[in-house]
Amino acid sequence: MTNSPSRRLVLTRSAALVGAASSGLLLPEWALAQSGKIRVGLMLPYSGAFAPLGVAIENGVRMAINEQGGKLAGREIEWFKVDDESEPSKGIENANKLVQRDKVDVLIGTVHSGVQMGIQKVARDSGVLTLIPNAGVHAATRALCAPNVFRTSFSNSQPTLALGQTMVAKGHKKAVWITWKYAAGDEAYEGFKESYTKAGGTIVKELGLPFPNVEFQALLTEIAALKPDAVACFFAGPSAAKFMKDFAAAGLKGKIALYGSGFLTEGVLEAAGPAADGVMTTLHYSDSLDTPRNNKFRLEYAKAFKMQPDVYAVQGYDTGLLLIQGANAVKGDLSKKPELYKAMEGAVIDSPRGKWTMSKSHNPVQDIYLRVAEKGENKVIGVAAKALADPGTGCRMG
Ligand code: PHB
Repeated sequence: MTNSPSRRLVLTRSAALVGAASSGLLLPEWALAQSGKIRVGLMLPYSGAFAPLGVAIENGVRMAINEQGGKLAGREIEWFKVDDESEPSKGIENANKLVQRDKVDVLIGTVHSGVQMGIQKVARDSGVLTLIPNAGVHAATRALCAPNVFRTSFSNSQPTLALGQTMVAKGHKKAVWITWKYAAGDEAYEGFKESYTKAGGTIVKELGLPFPNVEFQALLTEIAALKPDAVACFFAGPSAAKFMKDFAAAGLKGKIALYGSGFLTEGVLEAAGPAADGVMTTLHYSDSLDTPRNNKFRLEYAKAFKMQPDVYAVQGYDTGLLLIQGANAVKGDLSKKPELYKAMEGAVIDSPRGKWTMSKSHNPVQDIYLRVAEKGENKVIGVAAKALADPGTGCRMG
């Protein structure tokens, strides 16, 4: 009996397991999950029209992690980086570099809504924990929502849902809308259209150009001919500075009021110069929020990175804060998915933008501020929408 083949097999196996475990080769999964490094993947634009946005987000994430001694729930981190170039056609391939090749435990990405759709597919297929630090594409937290995907930024219509009423209240009842024609611009328009028409405004024309084109001249000529009270827009990154400068150079500044989703004036006030002065925007952050939390954040960010933070840096920082809360709740064992997701769903993020919570479909419930650009600063005028949630239409988790 003692020498039966099955008993020998058991003995051999367990001997092998002991040997392997002592040499660190074959640790059981639960032990591996808590002993190895946590693999964090950053998929962000480091080149192209949104490159500075990617850098600010990475800075923010690292700042939050550095406040924890560079670790997540006491575990060391191994970082992986992919430049997504804001190129939607490479979205799936680039996400798989992190998920399949690098086997990351968590993917942080990205900025561009079109690229996000590729990440969303990979996230849903693989189940890898995915944190969206910017891209506002509605589907990510609506019809294509997923238990393992959390957004720490905004949905594309959130900022502009707070814009229309302000414009009408200022007496600007006839507007032209202009944007890049892709998901972010189109969905920002949805929010603008809803809020502006509801408040009694009329949209006389909807103008667009393909991302990332910056040939605004012909469109500005058309705006001059249309003579609206106001222009409302979505542009972001260095191209937004060019838009404001071209708007002024075309002689429209001072004649037609310029409004925007607040990304228009984020990170570009110095580049835009006086062309930005007086531009009114709505956004979930403002550099001039005079709270101890924001002041401390701004001081430490500037010290660490030798540049001023903007909304993208805040979103990156909050992504780090959310990941830290989740990881702490499972003592660093990210394989405990139900507990991890529960902790992240219930998280209250003490952000430089103000405290925010997670909606059922995993998008921030947050205040939207009305700001005016003045001498290189986005000055807060007030809260344009309180605790605004995305409706999460069509989201079914599970
Ligand atoms: C987006 O593509 O979702 C996007 C990009 C830049 C922004 C905001 C949204 O500033």
